[in-house]
Amino acid sequence: MSDRVLGPFSRRTLLAGGAVTVAGAVAVGATVRGDDGTVVLPQSTVDFGGLMVPFHGPHQAGIATPAQAHGVFVALDLAAGVDRAALRRLMLLLSDDAARLTQGRAPLADAQPELAHVPARLTVTFGFGPRLFDVAGLADQRPATLQQLPAFPIDKLQPRWCGGDLLLQICADDPLTVAHAQRMLVKDSRSFATVRWVQRGFRRGRGMQDDGVTQRNVLGQLDGTGNPAPGGAVFDGAVWRSATDGGPQWLHGGTTLVLRRIRAELETWDAADTTGKEFAVGRRLSDGAPLTGRHEQDPPDFAAKNALGLPVISEFSHVARAHVAGDRQRIFRRPYNYDEAPGPDGTADCGLIFAAYQRDVGGQFLPIQRNLAEADLLNEWVTPIGSAVFAIPPGCGSGGWIGEGLLG
Ligand code: HEM
Repeated sequence: MSDRVLGPFSRRTLLAGGAVTVAGAVAVGATVRGDDGTVVLPQSTVDFGGLMVPFHGPHQAGIATPAQAHGVFVALDLAAGVDRAALRRLMLLLSDDAARLTQGRAPLADAQPELAHVPARLTVTFGFGPRLFDVAGLADQRPATLQQLPAFPIDKLQPRWCGGDLLLQICADDPLTVAHAQRMLVKDSRSFATVRWVQRGFRRGRGMQDDGVTQRNVLGQLDGTGNPAPGGAVFDGAVWRSATDGGPQWLHGGTTLVLRRIRAELETWDAADTTGKEFAVGRRLSDGAPLTGRHEQDPPDFAAKNALGLPVISEFSHVARAHVAGDRQRIFRRPYNYDEAPGPDGTADCGLIFAAYQRDVGGQFLPIQRNLAEADLLNEWVTPIGSAVFAIPPGCGSGGWIGEGLLG
């Protein structure tokens, strides 16, 4: 590893520091011009590549963690003959890999160990699909509402984006770090499972102008405004399972994930005008403010009427249909954009890898999804083409492994 010096920090110092936060150290995005007018790359004092997120803790990282720039979701199918003991071995191995990789260390038998030295806030989050519980002989430990979602009239699901027994959610600010972690984890899973699907997504690059603000999706909308804030009481109550929820004890400190691949019909979205696009969502495209407010964080006023006595925010708008009154009924959205190669005629193939985390799929996600499927103006431009659900086990202490409460 090179000991490249970056301002006051060296890569070695950052890697030695455990969870690293570097406060107030950068002027990102500033354009500096040399004497002859050429653009000179601004000197950053933060080494984004050296930043690390702890792997061990009460919750798995990668959910409350501010979303990294790149994410890949890999669904594995467990091979015939894999039982609870084999699953235990697999999760021990994968947890050890993830614990090392996220801290900038190469896992055992890494043929490209140099690639592990840039953790770039890498997180690896594991999820258990509904069938895993049958395979392990633990059907009674499956959360009651952890089942594939019912079919909705808006769905055009393609089997190649649906289901899965074991999820690897790998996120980092560097795509090579993600690729390397994926390679290592998939390689170590090979004797136990086959790859069912892989979904790659992205948000703005780290250090971009949008750093720390609500991301924009491929439709150009600010996406995430109405989320409960990670770390706050509302987030904790909506996302993390606890003893008050009942259900299997092993999931306390964990959550559930609904992953929907939702195609954006960009050709027709392009053709719509700004007023129509904003009416469909209930928020402004420029700054994300509700149609009844001035700033992004102003609460939408669903009762406000225009001069004609009609609601300013249509009752069929996306935010009106998705809004829930009770804090514990909310969901936490952490979507990634996807953008695959366009078709031969140039038609876009893009949309959202829509990841929603909540204590309970049945009590929180489903009522919102039903509301949206029933009537949401945005449906004209978005089409679910993939669907999967996973229980996300709690985190583990150092020396522990993910899933130990269920499989141990
Ligand atoms: C490609 C599909 C989708 C797009 C482009 C999209 C876009 C948006 C946008 C722009 C907002 C307003 C800003 C914000 O609060 O983030 C929003 C809000 C929201 N969306 Fe979506 N969304 C999609 C799918 C879904 C799905 C499938 C669900 C859940 C089943 C959902 C649930 C929500 C919720 C709960 C809110 C916050 C509502 C509130 O203000 O209380 N969205 N979405």
